[in-house]
Amino acid sequence: MKALVLAGGAGTRLRPITHTSAKQLVPVANKPVLFYGLEAIADAGITEVGIIVGDTSQEIHEAVGDGAKLGLDVTYIPQRAPLGLAHAVLIAREFLGDDDFVMYLGDNFIVGGISELVEEFRTERPDARILLTHVPNPGAFGVAELGADGRVIGLEEKPVRPRSDLALVGVYLFSAAVHEAVRAIEPSWRDELEITHAIQWLIDTGRDVQATTISGYWKDTGNVTDMLEVNRSVLERVDPLVEGSVDEASEVIGRVRVDAGARVTRSRIVGPAIIGPGAVITDSYVGPFTSVSENCLIEDCEIEYSIVLQSASVKGVRRVEASLIGRHVEVTPAPRNPAAHRLVLGDHSKVQISS
Ligand code: G1P
Repeated sequence: MKALVLAGGAGTRLRPITHTSAKQLVPVANKPVLFYGLEAIADAGITEVGIIVGDTSQEIHEAVGDGAKLGLDVTYIPQRAPLGLAHAVLIAREFLGDDDFVMYLGDNFIVGGISELVEEFRTERPDARILLTHVPNPGAFGVAELGADGRVIGLEEKPVRPRSDLALVGVYLFSAAVHEAVRAIEPSWRDELEITHAIQWLIDTGRDVQATTISGYWKDTGNVTDMLEVNRSVLERVDPLVEGSVDEASEVIGRVRVDAGARVTRSRIVGPAIIGPGAVITDSYVGPFTSVSENCLIEDCEIEYSIVLQSASVKGVRRVEASLIGRHVEVTPAPRNPAAHRLVLGDHSKVQISS
């Protein structure tokens, strides 16, 4: 069994947080989302991984390298333009050969890994197995309709009127039957060869397509609330470990990871939280569900349920909550109000002045 990981796509990111132009490198608990997928693949006992890369090829290369540190043997497969997920399968034909494979979209995050699914697929050997999950906004995904017996009746890509709230999760298991399917379909309205259509083709030609509904799914849609939530759920499982320095006047409570080179001085850290390498926390409180990335500076403030990306600094601002702070951001107190107000107020005025 092999894995085909998709880390292409156009190199633009119109998110409020542009951590990087590669959406697969958006960090969850200080680790790029792509790595969770690669680790899940390694955990499932798969070592041969093809990674489809596009515009952001260099960033992906720099992050993943040859895959050895993850126990993987990575082959890069360039896609000249984002022509669709089925197109990715088409160009990976030589790498995939006739092996079964798991196709994993590098910007998808699923809780709990894929080992069980892979095992089940190996035993049952259907032509394809798709994963589904209930979402509030099915129109933004591929959507499945299931029959009374739980079988997949039909799939639609980004439907205007979704027939269910079951979205296709970006993890698919395929036998070599999919190669015929990706050759048989035509580009969609968005000019892409859709994997959704290839799977529909498999259904229409009577192949065995099975579905598993999962929970614990996340995909970055630029929604800060969702991002804080996925960060929270990953931090809940962090292994406490202090490798950086924590002075006598500081307190570290609960599930907290302080990475090597981080310095915590006169501060209180209450987990789950992680403090990345080289980060400096001084005279501050870092509360639960906070990820502070490498080389950040947190000074004289309280921060909780937040994500602070690389090299950002937050100083002297009392309390920060439910916030997402981008790379190299500087947060400081606003200049003080002028000490005196000069007022010309008519009779009976009511004025509120914050002091
Ligand atoms: C793709 C698939 C869609 C699936 C989604 C999951 O969408 O086409 O069916 O639900 O991935 O991430 P895209 O990312 O191309 O919009």
